[in-house]
Amino acid sequence: MKYSKKVIEHFRKPHNQGTLKKADSISTVGNPVCGDIMRLYLKIGKNKKGEEIIKNVKFETLGCGAAIATSSMVTDMAKGKTLKQALKITKKDVTSELDWLPPVKQHCSNLAADALHEAVKKYLKEKKDKDKKKTCKSVKSKKKIKKK
Ligand code: FES
Repeated sequence: MKYSKKVIEHFRKPHNQGTLKKADSISTVGNPVCGDIMRLYLKIGKNKKGEEIIKNVKFETLGCGAAIATSSMVTDMAKGKTLKQALKITKKDVTSELDWLPPVKQHCSNLAADALHEAVKKYLKEKKDKDKKKTCKSVKSKKKIKKK
């Protein structure tokens, strides 16, 4: 099978491979076509404007060469992006950054984009849930104050 130069480079020397201690979000996605699996770790920080960004990202992928190359590429693309920008990265974007993927390997790029989106959405959901809890606690403590 013929791969682009970039795919081969990212497969041979993947960027951001590994795990992140104290990750703010972790997603695990599987590819139903072949059973390959990818786990993505996110560390969230803030940029100068105060927007939340992907400060660091790592991955572990058990899969084919194209899956590893797309995992590596998506982490490069996501690093430093705002969460909104990260959610806009599509599998097509990942494939075109790698120049080209053979048609039978197109599905492999799903893992990378899906794992990124899932990790960001999971982070946003957990943050929303925490904020709700905080609001509930402050409402409860206000009620206690009124009762006294
Ligand atoms: S063959 Fe499974 S992700 Fe590529």
